[in-house]
Amino acid sequence: MKAALNSSRKQGKISKYIYGQFAEHLGRCIYEGLYVEDESIPNKNGMRTDVVNALRELEIPVLRWPGGCFADDYHWRDGIGDKSKRPYMVNTNWGGVVENNHFGTHEFFELCEQLGTEPYICGNVGSGTVQEMRDWVEYMTFDGDSPLANERRANGRKEPWKLKFFGVGNENWGCGGNMRAEFYADQYRRYATFIRNYGEEPIYKIAGGPNSDDANWTEVLMKNISHATNGISLHNYTFEHNWDNKGSATQFDKDGWYSLMADAQRMEKNICLHEAIMDRYDPENKIDLIVDEWGNWFNVEPGTNPGFLYQQNTMRDVISGMLILHIFHNHNKRVKMANIAQMVNVLQSMILTEGEKMVLTPTYHLFRMMKGHMDGEKLDIDYNGGEIDVDGVKVPKISVSASEKNGAVTISMCNVSLDSDEDIEIALRDRDFTSAQAEILTSKNMNDCNTFDAPETVKPKKLDVTLNGGTLTLKLPKMSAAVITLK
Ligand code: AHR
Repeated sequence: MKAALNSSRKQGKISKYIYGQFAEHLGRCIYEGLYVEDESIPNKNGMRTDVVNALRELEIPVLRWPGGCFADDYHWRDGIGDKSKRPYMVNTNWGGVVENNHFGTHEFFELCEQLGTEPYICGNVGSGTVQEMRDWVEYMTFDGDSPLANERRANGRKEPWKLKFFGVGNENWGCGGNMRAEFYADQYRRYATFIRNYGEEPIYKIAGGPNSDDANWTEVLMKNISHATNGISLHNYTFEHNWDNKGSATQFDKDGWYSLMADAQRMEKNICLHEAIMDRYDPENKIDLIVDEWGNWFNVEPGTNPGFLYQQNTMRDVISGMLILHIFHNHNKRVKMANIAQMVNVLQSMILTEGEKMVLTPTYHLFRMMKGHMDGEKLDIDYNGGEIDVDGVKVPKISVSASEKNGAVTISMCNVSLDSDEDIEIALRDRDFTSAQAEILTSKNMNDCNTFDAPETVKPKKLDVTLNGGTLTLKLPKMSAAVITLK
């Protein structure tokens, strides 16, 4: 494949927040995965040292919490103060297990501080009250003298926390209340009114947006709340076939590989669908599309709790992940944040844990390799790597994206094909480069995954590339993802 990188053709910033993450009180994401009370597992104030250290490498820009469906069942007051006195609840969304509320607001901010990430909190519209939501914001962010701010101080936090992103409900068309779009729009107006700005920076409000291709939801929201929101969320998961036929994370054949890649293309289709509606109401592009739940959703690993959504992770997750991240890059004008679901032990996670053991998933390596794009200026790269026809859906065989930050150019590319390697030749226009470094993520078999017994089956390696005058050449093997840094 021949391509041309046009370094002087800049195409807008790729918001770092599209590399955001999501951690819900679901299965073993928070408890066991991130937070432990078992002192035999090394931790700092409850946060697992091994997991935090690994996640810090990703430079995660933003973390969404406490859900997901859990958010609309969560009452923040249950998660503050003396842990031994915090009320228990049943996590009815996720396995009916007991939630002891030992991980609450203070613990979440502690986790964010340890990770060096910005918090994004999702409030409860479905079963909460306006007062509950407004009080939570005051408790977290007010610097002055008020009963709520003083209660925060009494609970150990003197300074207010910096909180920029706040979600007004989650999936309110479903687990967040089964509302009609019109009803939610009215609820949004009411709840959002009372989310006050106590800190220096105004709170960036995110409305609970559509599921997948629900154009009506977006239309109603844009018509009724566009004056009162900063962003509208979109949830769009990827399945091997569809919601009713999710497939196994590891036991798939060639058809399963390609049909997942075809379903990943729904992200492009759905972003275009919602963007077109947003463009009509908001031609000035003031409201962002926030894809705050995305990723591959498979059947749970055999023998695990069906409500815990625990799944393995292979090269299939890496390639579909890069395809989708490139879709976000291409829509950088409207898509300003995305949060992959979820951080640890749930869905397409970065990390899996078992007791004191931890493994990094192939998706973790993808996110580590892609870091150079965060807040980079997107660059034009011309290429045509051909398409693969999957039952009428056109999947790019090769997908490439380029950006520039601090003088370095990052080029990411993947080869979706299971059969053919690709020789890549990129003409480097408008700029001279003197060095090229590259990493590649691939594996022997498409089903390979990292297990607690073999944690390094899928891991990045150095890739040999040639920089000759104004041309970069490399071989991109089948079923691989590579990231090149040019200086
Ligand atoms: O990420 C798992 C669940 O998927 C979330 O709780 C919900 O918002 C979505 O349906």
